[in-house]
Amino acid sequence: MNSSITRPNILVARRIFPEGIERLEAICDIDYVDQIEPLTKVELSERLKDKDGALVTGSERIDADTLKDAKALKIISNIAVGFNNFDVDAFNQKGIIGTNTPDVLTDTTADMGFALLMAISRRLSEAERWLRDGQWHHWEMGRMLGVDIHHSTLGIMGMGRIGQAIAKRGLAFGMNVIYYNRKPLSKDLEQACQATYVDKETLLKNADHVMLVMPYSADSHHFIGAKELAMMKSTATLVNIARGGIVDDNALVEALQRNQIFGAGLDVYEGEPKLHPGLLDLPNVVLAPHIGSATEKTRYSMMNLAIDNLLAGLAGEKPKTMINPEIWGK
Ligand code: GLV
Repeated sequence: MNSSITRPNILVARRIFPEGIERLEAICDIDYVDQIEPLTKVELSERLKDKDGALVTGSERIDADTLKDAKALKIISNIAVGFNNFDVDAFNQKGIIGTNTPDVLTDTTADMGFALLMAISRRLSEAERWLRDGQWHHWEMGRMLGVDIHHSTLGIMGMGRIGQAIAKRGLAFGMNVIYYNRKPLSKDLEQACQATYVDKETLLKNADHVMLVMPYSADSHHFIGAKELAMMKSTATLVNIARGGIVDDNALVEALQRNQIFGAGLDVYEGEPKLHPGLLDLPNVVLAPHIGSATEKTRYSMMNLAIDNLLAGLAGEKPKTMINPEIWGK
């Protein structure tokens, strides 16, 4: 441990598992926000003033304003792989380390992408609502007809770790996998996923199922809007397990109302936890409350990796999954 800090003073900005608090208590003095509601921006910045480190979730927005009075802060550890809640330039200006939780959630989140893909393609939510409603009296030839997943074309937008894990699931279903990414994968990785790089328009026009797995940034804001939805097949599904804001929810609701595409499976929303009200009335959408990484094993792994990162940073060691390695050693 850095000799200038004997017992670091940290903020835990949201309720975590008790085992995490026990680990941290052995080493740190904790200002624990033991609640599921996020702090307001003003409260967050007030609480960060005297802290050496902080553990936050993907819904704590940390920017220059939040950090302005934080004099001692060395590290903020995000319990999420996506870190669009961090203004990395503001971190770099103050020499604050930022960390995230990649790898440990890759397969769990890929499973969720597939769960939404299967649920919307086979109309599971709609069928269950209908059944619970007492409407099932006869077998019917044309009842709840879906679209096939097996041997169809899966189009993945964003071919990072999670995108690649989804591609491998697609292969097991005999799917033809195409993908779009800022950069094509190396030939080795492409071969491991048996995936073919195409441009955005080719993917939208050819995919039977479009899966969004890219990070959110100013560049990917409304990456899927009215124009892109119009390019998709009328039998295609759209799944978003990435971030709200990548899809223009207004355009999506309109497209779904007109049955312009077959349906959508969504785990993330613009302005969540608020939802576009139109989504709730649509039969052709499966809605999940941002639970892509939510299995017990994975959430513990994320918490423990975030704590490892925090403790390493406080001890003057390089955290395992640092998002701004460019400031290390400066
Ligand atoms: C969840 O959305 C994450 O980024 O981990």
